Amino acid sequence: MAEEAILGFLEKNEQISDSGNFAAELGLDHNDVVNVIKSLHGFRYVDAQDIKRETWVLTDEGRKYATEGSPEVQLFLAVPPEGSIPKDELQKKLAPAVFKIGCSQAGKNRWVEMGKQISRKVQQVEDKVKDLLLRVEDGHAIEKDDINSLKARKLIVQQTWKGYSVSKGPNYAPKRKKVATDLTRENLQRGDWKELEFKEYNFNAKGQPAEGGHLHPLLKVRKQLKDIFLQMGFEEMPTNNFVESSFWNFDVLFQPQQHPARDSHDTFFLEEPSTTRKLPEAYVELVKRVHESGGYGSRGYGYDWKREEANKNLLRTHTTAVSSRMLKALAEKPFAPKKYFSIDRVFRNEAVDRTHLAEFHQIEGLVCDRGLTLGDLIGVLHDFFSRLGMSKLRFKPAYNPYTEPSMEIFSYHEGLGKWVEIGNSGMFRPEMLLPMGFPEDVRVIAWGLSLERPTMILYGIDNIRDLFGHKVDLGLIKRNPICSLGMD
Ligand code: PHE
Repeated sequence: MAEEAILGFLEKNEQISDSGNFAAELGLDHNDVVNVIKSLHGFRYVDAQDIKRETWVLTDEGRKYATEGSPEVQLFLAVPPEGSIPKDELQKKLAPAVFKIGCSQAGKNRWVEMGKQISRKVQQVEDKVKDLLLRVEDGHAIEKDDINSLKARKLIVQQTWKGYSVSKGPNYAPKRKKVATDLTRENLQRGDWKELEFKEYNFNAKGQPAEGGHLHPLLKVRKQLKDIFLQMGFEEMPTNNFVESSFWNFDVLFQPQQHPARDSHDTFFLEEPSTTRKLPEAYVELVKRVHESGGYGSRGYGYDWKREEANKNLLRTHTTAVSSRMLKALAEKPFAPKKYFSIDRVFRNEAVDRTHLAEFHQIEGLVCDRGLTLGDLIGVLHDFFSRLGMSKLRFKPAYNPYTEPSMEIFSYHEGLGKWVEIGNSGMFRPEMLLPMGFPEDVRVIAWGLSLERPTMILYGIDNIRDLFGHKVDLGLIKRNPICSLGMD
């Protein structure tokens, strides 16, 4: 509509001198007219020159008085024509602002006699303010003095109006030609590409915002945890081997070869290569002996330990396999205390349900030093978990083949209003540490938890398959916040 009107008008006239007047005359919305001018200008159908005009518009207060009348007139009309009215009674009849402004303006105009009693001094008044406001609202010009007084009373403000004057441009035509934006196969086949007019490239157009670089919630929580370990002075262990031998994953950890966790129902064993090629022979002998007959004050398990079972390759079932390799390496050097951590993937041959996957991530921390106690473990756990925003902890005695004593860790979840299990911990057994070659008074305290559990709590996800795996909604990853504070 606006486009036809503009191009049509320019066909017969030199120029549109003011887009505002043009729009008003034709009953068009000025914004629409401006948009069309910009678009026609872009294709050089028209030339356009900016016009700026300072205009006055009513403030909210000004608009109110334009309909309801000025405060001074409202006040005047509330005073009885004959006699007088007590000031406090008059005050009750009017809004507080109207009363206040009305008193001062009507007093200044000498319309009323002010005192404890208020009475009229004139019989009739004219609402000049209201009339002026209505004229401004209609876009009429008013006297300079009137502008100043309305402005001083904050009833009008200045606004810059922007419009255009428009004339024919170099590509002017009474009707816009459709320009082609793409060269199609059909254009080539029909040969009409020769006649087509193509839209010019707009190298100034903004491109699509680049999408990418969204971190998965697990990565973000992993980073938070890694930072906590680093702040506590822990070193990261190398976890870059998913495939491990049963020896390092189980035997070294004093986990008997008949233990149900070593069953193929719980562990993924490798078919190819099904066994490890190399184990440290002297150490294997010590591990075998501690399983069969104990030593170091232990009776052992009293069974026939089989090398073939220890050789079997598997996908590591816990990151404690990494810890056992690192501790063995540590025991071979002159003793120095260490704090180690790891965060990486582990695998379990489990039925997948809303809280279990066959692969997940474990977080593990350990401290190795002389004379450590269970009290040290509890203290370190409080320090670690309170940095995650979990400061209410409880411990429950538990069993692991490789730790004694062992404790499950529970944290009070404010949101859920209950205690939730968040991890497992303990002190590594002498049957594990002494064959490695540690001095007798060296103790290792350790704990482990899944990365998925705190992440699900943090992100309010209740089905693990919404967090990890091929069914994950990418939108979740794009939308979730960059970081979060506190776990509960
Ligand atoms: N490895 C244990 C698990 O899989 C966690 C743990 C680590 C327990 C260290 C005690 C000490 O759950």
